[in-house]
Amino acid sequence: MRMRAAVLEEFGEPLAVQEVELAEPKAGEVLVRLAACGVCHTDLYTASGADPSGYAPTVLGHEGAGVVEQVGADVSSLAVGDHVVTLFSPQCRECIHCVDPRTNLCLAIREEQNKGHLPDGTTRISRDDEDIRHFMGCSTFAECTVMPEIALAKVNPEAPFEHACLFACGLSTGLGAAINTAKVQEGSTCVVFGAGMVGLGAVAGCRLQGAERIVCVDLSEDRLELARGQGATEAIVGGEGTVERILEMTDGFGADYTFEATGNVAVMRQAVEAARMAWGLCTVAGVAGRGETLDIVPRFLITGRRVAGSSFGGVKGRDQVPQLIDRYLAGEIDVAPFLSHRISLDEVNRGFELMEAQDGIRSVIEFN
Ligand SMILES: NC(=O)c1ccc[n+]([C@@H]2O[C@H](COP(=O)([O-])OP(=O)(O)OC[C@H]3O[C@@H](n4cnc5c(N)ncnc54)[C@H](O)[C@@H]3O)[C@@H](O)[C@H]2O)c1
Ligand SMILES: [Zn+2]
Ligand SMILES: [Zn+2]
Repeated sequence: MRMRAAVLEEFGEPLAVQEVELAEPKAGEVLVRLAACGVCHTDLYTASGADPSGYAPTVLGHEGAGVVEQVGADVSSLAVGDHVVTLFSPQCRECIHCVDPRTNLCLAIREEQNKGHLPDGTTRISRDDEDIRHFMGCSTFAECTVMPEIALAKVNPEAPFEHACLFACGLSTGLGAAINTAKVQEGSTCVVFGAGMVGLGAVAGCRLQGAERIVCVDLSEDRLELARGQGATEAIVGGEGTVERILEMTDGFGADYTFEATGNVAVMRQAVEAARMAWGLCTVAGVAGRGETLDIVPRFLITGRRVAGSSFGGVKGRDQVPQLIDRYLAGEIDVAPFLSHRISLDEVNRGFELMEAQDGIRSVIEFN
């Protein structure tokens, strides 16, 4: 079929919206008609050429929500008409990681996905005789996409697509960092560094876990205001003295749980140092620049602090994204404040500009 898609032709250049060809789904694959898609830093990171593993031409986008339009052979968990959220982090339910409750890092299709292929090593997107690669296994800056069944979460059809798509990446990452990775205990004190999509999700996750104090740290007053709306009990402007400030606020001990959601390694260090002696757990969700390292004075670890990393919030996507969306529908998570701008596919580059200007939390592409 012919469809419109935003193609990354050359790094550092605007995406080019154009007609391309999308082939039918093969065995184990599903064709999804997108209804909404968030524009994320990772898309821009690849488009800019900063990502060393990036490739072109490719159709970017990975925060999609839509409707199943066609299923390939052997697809058993999805049917035409199902509402789905795309998963850049799939869940095959069979590999050694999927059957272990400790991780969400499914091993089933990693290598081919990283190369921009579907699991059989080929692509479904093309133009003339040229293959166009898939991005993060999703390629949702397009009217339709073909994805493996294991990379789609079937969600409650009552969830509006423009909100459901936010659970495809940053929001679930933040929520999951608090719920799955840190497993925040009731009554605890938490500090969240960064109030973008991920940090705000972590604030909401701490609240859902019953934290008593949630301190959010960011550079932007506007974003700190959003953090208060998600349940932050205190909000402070970050900077050099932040660790001392947090120690003062916690009787000199630090927080039971800290979360890093900025991608800045200096802030990661602050998050480690602001974690409480004896049992403080620092969860790192931010993605640092290539080659950057995190400095930790070992004494911080000897005296009982721990550090954990969290990819997609430890969320096993097919099982847990539907659960998170049900909690949103039950009124437990306030998603509307994250949707800052609605744009069309043709305006995708404006979505990047808004992001660079830190204008709002998420721009969402709406498809007709
Ligand atoms: N682990 C994962 O699976 C995963 C998934 C999505 C995103 N991420 C990463 O998470 C990070 C956050 O993503 P986002 O979409 O929320 O980004 P964002 O840019 O919207 O938010 C980052 C926030 O950090 C704040 N910040 C910057 N410097 C600070 C400082 N010194 N102190 C306090 N706050 C500071 C900024 O003001 C901003 O509000 C990024 O590194 C992103 O790549 C990770
Ligand atoms: Zn994303
Ligand atoms: Zn798996």
